[in-house]
Amino acid sequence: MADIFFHGGRDYLLYGDQQQKAIFFHDADDPGGFMCNWYRSGFVVDGIAYTSMEQYLMSRKCLVLGDEAAAARIMKTDIPANQKAIAANVKENSVIWDGIKQAILMRGLYAKFQQNPPLTALLRDTEDVWLVACSQTDKIWTCGVGIADERRRDPKCWLGPNLLGFALMEVRSALKESKEVAPEVEPIVVVHGDITKMDLDCVVNAANRTLFGGKGVDAAINKAAGPKLRKEYLSMGGCRVGEAKITKAYNLPCKWVIHTVGPTYDGGPNNAVQLGDCYRNSLDLAMEHNLHAIAFPAISTGFLGYPLEEAAHVAIDAVRRWRVSNPDYDMHVTFCCFDTKNFEAYKKILPNAATMEQL
Ligand code: APR
Repeated sequence: MADIFFHGGRDYLLYGDQQQKAIFFHDADDPGGFMCNWYRSGFVVDGIAYTSMEQYLMSRKCLVLGDEAAAARIMKTDIPANQKAIAANVKENSVIWDGIKQAILMRGLYAKFQQNPPLTALLRDTEDVWLVACSQTDKIWTCGVGIADERRRDPKCWLGPNLLGFALMEVRSALKESKEVAPEVEPIVVVHGDITKMDLDCVVNAANRTLFGGKGVDAAINKAAGPKLRKEYLSMGGCRVGEAKITKAYNLPCKWVIHTVGPTYDGGPNNAVQLGDCYRNSLDLAMEHNLHAIAFPAISTGFLGYPLEEAAHVAIDAVRRWRVSNPDYDMHVTFCCFDTKNFEAYKKILPNAATMEQL
């Protein structure tokens, strides 16, 4: 069993008069947090890419309850608390949702783990111990009492049915039996849409060296963020080609904007190095700020003239290399393609990646 569980909540509960080994979990950042619905890990169900179980579950709930607009809003945000809040406002027909929710949960959990071999390994490492989700506010998916509450140890004292914990135990059994774990789905999403609409930790701007704002995606980001963004630029003293700088996002739906300056394409050997630097430095900066979800436009492929397919290869290669250098950091990467030609170029290079049309 992985050592993390000894320090991260492996414990016991009483079932009848028997002591049973148990893992109690609550927060996505805790060692057992990979089992939480708020834990970020990409997976695909019915061709739709989700960034977390919360996004999957809450959007499916809205669809079951007939509110397609709310489901669409949930798919546009990467923030689990917002996804939950949107779904909470949907009028509930509890009989239908109650009937189907456990089956929907199981299907999503199976996809989440089966498509992510490192997560499958962590779940298998829990062997056959009880898995108990804890939260005093959630009396549906969890056991309904807090992670430090002694009542968690006695199922007779639980205030919730621990739907998530039991579903995880079932999925764990199913994965044990099926020997076969899917080849790793590359944790990259390709979106056809407008980056200014993306509700993520951060989006990247293809800026210019003065950081004063120009045309293309730069103009769109400045317009949507409002004049304060430009004011913050002024204090930054410019940005060199390949470098990255971070500002707040102001009126944009994301939290931060990372500005990077792509190279002007001239066919020379430096082009790919500098373009790769844009992606690598942006990812480093996002990691330094503890950000876990980032969306890139196709840097340099507009005014700076970089051929689309060549630029897409450089971008994907840079992200893959960065992942290899930072294997323990969970970074959800989206390539946001505004125009159809770029979208097609990314899909061609990443035939197995999840793709999405922005709603
Ligand atoms: N969302 C996502 N992508 C967008 C958006 C948008 N809202 N608007 C444009 N794009 C795409 C373009 O289709 C292009 O594929 O961004 C890509 C990059 O194009 P540019 O914005 O022209 O960026 P780049 O080629 O890197 O040139 C940057 O141009 O506007 C100036 O100040 C900018 O000097 C900088 C240079």
